[in-house]
Amino acid sequence: MGSFLQCTFLLAMLLFSVGLTSANSATEFYWKAKLPFTPMPKSVIDSLATEDNDDVWLSTHNKAHNWTHSYEVMLKGYEGGGHCHTDSMINTDFITSTFFLEKDLSMGSKLSVHFRDNVGSVNTRFPSPRLAQALPPFKSSSLSNNLRFFNAEPESDAAMFMNLTLNTCEHPNPINGKKQYCATSLEKLVSYVTSTLGGSHDVRTISASPSGSPHRDALLPYKVVGVREVATEKNMVACHRLGFPYAVYYCHQPKATTAYTVSLVDVMNGVKSDAYAVCHSQTSEWSPEYVGFKILGAKPGTHVCHFLQFHDVVWYRG
Ligand SMILES: *[C@@H]1O[C@H](CO)[C@@H](O)[C@H](O)[C@H]1NC(C)=O
Ligand SMILES: *[C@@H]1O[C@H](CO)[C@@H](O)[C@H](O)[C@H]1NC(C)=O
Repeated sequence: MGSFLQCTFLLAMLLFSVGLTSANSATEFYWKAKLPFTPMPKSVIDSLATEDNDDVWLSTHNKAHNWTHSYEVMLKGYEGGGHCHTDSMINTDFITSTFFLEKDLSMGSKLSVHFRDNVGSVNTRFPSPRLAQALPPFKSSSLSNNLRFFNAEPESDAAMFMNLTLNTCEHPNPINGKKQYCATSLEKLVSYVTSTLGGSHDVRTISASPSGSPHRDALLPYKVVGVREVATEKNMVACHRLGFPYAVYYCHQPKATTAYTVSLVDVMNGVKSDAYAVCHSQTSEWSPEYVGFKILGAKPGTHVCHFLQFHDVVWYRG
């Protein structure tokens, strides 16, 4: 994966906070019709419009919202300033601690990880289908219309992210797998996932929130007490949220990638929980600037693993 794109993922992850949510009945009905046996992952619940009223969506997503300001606030947490410097992320333990080497995916390994469910203050959701018709096109050629619509100033970090997201969606990077797609609505997301996986039966998901115990928001030592393969590239689609004033998922079928359930024991209190991780075993074409290599002091070709973060969702048939 190119450093450019990886950088998008990492910073995009910071843009979403979790609000109180309950899907409205139309979306629940849609989901149940398409994926009757699959519980809706939390990441997707967090992306749904909470109400049927488009005016309320608009007032939280643009009118009253200064995107230039939101991004400035969010990026202040980084030493490198407001730009996409992997070096500044290297100082952020909830990002760095999620990366590890494949050899550490074994019984008895010790890993210090800072699990975090959400970061940031910008809560973005899918527009309703009706409202989606009224928004500027999701295209890089309509960047300036989007900037105007969402009150983002042209030279701002917000504008840089929006441009990056539009370009990422328009220019698939072959290193990320042969199929890539950006979904800007629940319907598009579900239809891409079910068509790529070849059906809606037995579709399961894993995402960042580990099950079993409430994670504390700190860098904590864990011991690996179990590793189970859950999916491989053949039956897997990975989706990551990208930075934009509304919810956008970038989905792809990563090459030579395996997803695992990793059972961890919190060394300090003995509490056991499950987390999810993916390992990439064909990385020789990746940029040496890939943030995972920098964090691990590794070179292209190294098998790199990472726990799923925030709003990542891996869908698989199993
Ligand atoms: C939005 O926020 C930026 C940065 O904080 C500020 O410079 C700008 O004046 C604000 N725009 C409006 C319309 O309030
Ligand atoms: C948007 O990104 C593209 C590709 O990186 C770049 O060529 C272009 O200049 C950018 N446009 C703006 C307005 O920043």
